Amino acid sequence: MKKIGILFGQENTFPQAFVDRVNAKAPADIRAEFVSIEQVEQHVAPDYAVIIDRISQDVPFYRAYLKNAALMGTAVINNPFWWSADEKFFNNALAVRLGVPVPKTLLLPSKERPTDTSENSFRNLAMMDWEAAFAHIGFPAYMKPHSGGGWKSVYKLHSPEDFFRAYDETGQLVMLFQESVDFTDYFRCYCIGGKEVLIMPYEPRNEPHLRYATEMKTTGEAGEKLLATMKEYVLKLNEGLGYDFNTVEFAVRDGIPLAIDFGNPAPDADINSVGEKNFEWVVEAAANMAIERAIAQKPGQDNLTWGTFVHPHRAKAHTTEFTVAELPEVKVATKKPAAAKAAPAPKAAAAPKVPAAPKAAKAPAAEKPAAKAATAKAPAAKKPAAKKSE
Ligand SMILES: Nc1ncnc2c1ncn2[C@@H]1O[C@H](COP(=O)(O)OP(=O)(O)O)[C@@H](O)[C@H]1O
Ligand SMILES: [Mg+2]
Repeated sequence: MKKIGILFGQENTFPQAFVDRVNAKAPADIRAEFVSIEQVEQHVAPDYAVIIDRISQDVPFYRAYLKNAALMGTAVINNPFWWSADEKFFNNALAVRLGVPVPKTLLLPSKERPTDTSENSFRNLAMMDWEAAFAHIGFPAYMKPHSGGGWKSVYKLHSPEDFFRAYDETGQLVMLFQESVDFTDYFRCYCIGGKEVLIMPYEPRNEPHLRYATEMKTTGEAGEKLLATMKEYVLKLNEGLGYDFNTVEFAVRDGIPLAIDFGNPAPDADINSVGEKNFEWVVEAAANMAIERAIAQKPGQDNLTWGTFVHPHRAKAHTTEFTVAELPEVKVATKKPAAAKAAPAPKAAAAPKVPAAPKAAKAPAAEKPAAKAATAKAPAAKKPAAKKSE
């Protein structure tokens, strides 16, 4: 008997539907359940051939548990080692390498110095040439954390004054300064198992619950071409990054899809936000992928997926192993999905209290020009509330 487990947080619809779907269609020697964790000991294998991780970005204890599980042979989805290293700036650089268009992007040193560093920690850092940065990226522009999600600390900026007001608020966060894409169409695309792709029209300017309630604007031959190009880019990015379960966002300008946010390894899969049809697709695709991975899983070995850049040798092995497998084709069922039960909150120990970090001084390199313009109040940039996993 091989077990597939799902590890999750506050979401209530996807985990139960996933477990029910696997159990409805897997061979008799494969079962799915909610992961149950008790004592966690080094080099002791958990009882799971596959774990779908939907929450370790918020729970470091789970991330450590999953790395040990991976060492012991569990196929952890997504790869916890890569997820720990992954961030938006590298992802963008890799996209350029892979030939996938992305907005022009610069990496900014944090406004404040990291805790326990001093001026001397920054002797390698030259003064930022803000004028050159503004001229290169232009306005409007976006500033957002290089490692983040859920639309937190995402600013749309219209001028250098906006820029410095926002930058002053960012504390120790390392930010991206990015060209704003004035788009005609916007999409979020699920990519499952590095091969199944669902392209969903998405309107980020709508209220969160209405973002998927939109239509693609590009029509006819141009629309067909756009869909084919996005599918190709989604597959390229996910092969490069080595994600099994991810979403890629595109903003389309002049017919060209630019990848905006493509490291979402616990993407929103709630029926109440993605809608019934997309939910059905993702439950089916995730169940098929998990079953396939459980069948292929070899106890005690590395059963993770690796990106082509990070681990070309392993990535190649997995491409051969997984893309040729006979997976049932993912189809959107006409039947309503089984009613999803509210998932019970898993038992968890109370999180230990963390002592407050000492206040850091300002970063010397960044401080001067920022201080010059830092007289006005908080930025006007709106921070829409959304799920962290988006
Ligand atoms: N360069 C950009 N051009 C246009 N819109 C952007 C750009 N960057 C971010 N956005 C908008 O801001 C939203 C949040 O940014 P995103 O990069 O997806 O961060 P997060 O990981 O927090 O979701 C996107 O869904 C998009 O609507
Ligand atoms: Mg996003």
